[in-house]
Amino acid sequence: MYVVGGTASKTVAEDLSKELHAPLVKTISKRFPDDELYIRILDDISGEDVIIVQTTYPDSNIVELFLLQNAVKEAGANKVTVIIPYLGYGRQDKKFETGEPISARAIAEHISLHADKAITVDPHKQHILDFFTIPAFSCSAVPELALYLKKKDIDMVLAPDEGALDRARQASDIMGCNFDYIEKTRINGATVEIKPKNLQANNKKVVIIDDIISTGGTMAKSIKELKKQGAKKILVVCTHGLFAGEAIKKIISAGCNEIISTDTIRSEFSKVKIAPCISQLLSSN
Ligand code: R5P
Repeated sequence: MYVVGGTASKTVAEDLSKELHAPLVKTISKRFPDDELYIRILDDISGEDVIIVQTTYPDSNIVELFLLQNAVKEAGANKVTVIIPYLGYGRQDKKFETGEPISARAIAEHISLHADKAITVDPHKQHILDFFTIPAFSCSAVPELALYLKKKDIDMVLAPDEGALDRARQASDIMGCNFDYIEKTRINGATVEIKPKNLQANNKKVVIIDDIISTGGTMAKSIKELKKQGAKKILVVCTHGLFAGEAIKKIISAGCNEIISTDTIRSEFSKVKIAPCISQLLSSN
């Protein structure tokens, strides 16, 4: 088995190559003067099973994944597994208004055209896996995140809404602390409202855990509410740190003490590696 790393997921690909004892394929990736992408597979992978690792965010990385899929096919690869650490467009997983696309399905169907299996991490909703027309599986980063947090003497884990309560419960089981949820209502893509609820946060060290941090609005509002309720320390944790626009500034100025994410999207906050969870899933599927 060989591992091909797209430019969005080089580190995850290197980690997986080590975990699976599978060689990392040499590639060239560069931009033409008009910004179109050129890629080339340099090693002989003819007849070999290949894993391609590429997060599909931002959009340019989707094109790179499609080109990599085509390149490994043209190079004569046998079975192709596509690993998408962060699967973009997951939040448009249905038509909210008539005339809209089901974006998550469009992406999943296109990836399925030239792959035998797909694997992703914490998809926004589990049913997104059914949009693939090939076998598709996901793993959760929560156990790895919770193990990282276990050393930090946390009193309580909070989900930012009731729908995400299972994530907080799972983390709290590993961390050995309490869990609860914040009552969030989303007004639009950039605005959320927090309903008053006694979170028993006074003098506590609290973690808020989410699948995605995008604009940081959810976290910033939650932090402010927890501050009001007397929380001593507040950490925010997510699997996929998109950190769009002023997200970091918003979260820090709301009073956050630490930001933690995995490396499904690399940033200075990628403190938890995702490769162990992916390689575990690969060995059981
Ligand atoms: C929503 O359903 C997700 O789980 C996150 O809560 C959301 O994507 C966070 O977005 P933002 O950081 O823009 O508030």
